Amino acid sequence: MRDRKPVIFFFCWYCTDSHRQVIMGEHKRTLTDVKNVILSAHEDSGPRDKVCFYNKWAEQYEEDVALLDYRAPSLATECIASHVQGDKGSAKVLDVACGTGLVSVKLREKGFQHFSGVDGSEAMLEVCRRTGLYQDLWPCVLGLEPLPVQAEAYDIVVIVGALSVGQVPVSVIEELWVATKPGGYICLTTRANPDNLEYKAELELTLDEMTRDGRLVRVSVTEVEEWERAVQEHETGYIPGAVYLYRKALHS
Ligand SMILES: C[S@@+](CC[C@H](N)C(=O)[O-])C[C@H]1O[C@@H](n2cnc3c(N)ncnc32)[C@H](O)[C@@H]1O
Repeated sequence: MRDRKPVIFFFCWYCTDSHRQVIMGEHKRTLTDVKNVILSAHEDSGPRDKVCFYNKWAEQYEEDVALLDYRAPSLATECIASHVQGDKGSAKVLDVACGTGLVSVKLREKGFQHFSGVDGSEAMLEVCRRTGLYQDLWPCVLGLEPLPVQAEAYDIVVIVGALSVGQVPVSVIEELWVATKPGGYICLTTRANPDNLEYKAELELTLDEMTRDGRLVRVSVTEVEEWERAVQEHETGYIPGAVYLYRKALHS
């Protein structure tokens, strides 16, 4: 990875140095390195800080999340592929907080072909662009900037690994709903470990309210015990998480 370091510094020259040391190791990566990287992000205070952190992590991200046994992209894909009806090859997918593109790579394996992506980190988008999978990739810091897509344009809107405390605020669900075609699907994931339980409760309250108001129809909610490896000192083994699949009501 050494030849890639200048790219990371290019994207991050304006940020603080707090993450650089933990990301830029000279040896083969271990789970401890990954834990240190993620814990360094917990010092960040808001969406811009978080996106700055991902700018530094982008080139190392996929190798690190493999060590973490990060299963969210596969779990969300399985959920979508097993419930979505109709022709997968013609469905338009919006991958929100797409990162390096792990979700769309998995969806492609299931027969989906049309992807657009949005992410707040330019460096993650740059890695994502190399997949060659996306028709459009837009930069956008969600919660601070409006989602830059057309209303009711997508058959499937998916957001994986980004709905959690300090990342994408729950209020963005409203924008995901607007982007979805009537009758289209919204797939979301979140962590269920202690530091994210308040966020998870707020997310579920919002989804329940939108369901009660007749704007969403619940398709499935799957709680997963082994979501990804724990990184915090007081946690061991795996932390839990959840995958939610909803349909936008045909008339609302
Ligand atoms: C854990 S990664 C998940 C990426 C991808 N969906 C996956 O599952 O591999 C979280 C992504 O969310 C993005 N992100 C975090 N907060 C954001 C925000 N407020 N607006 C836009 N993107 C954000 C980060 O840049 C990063 O690419």
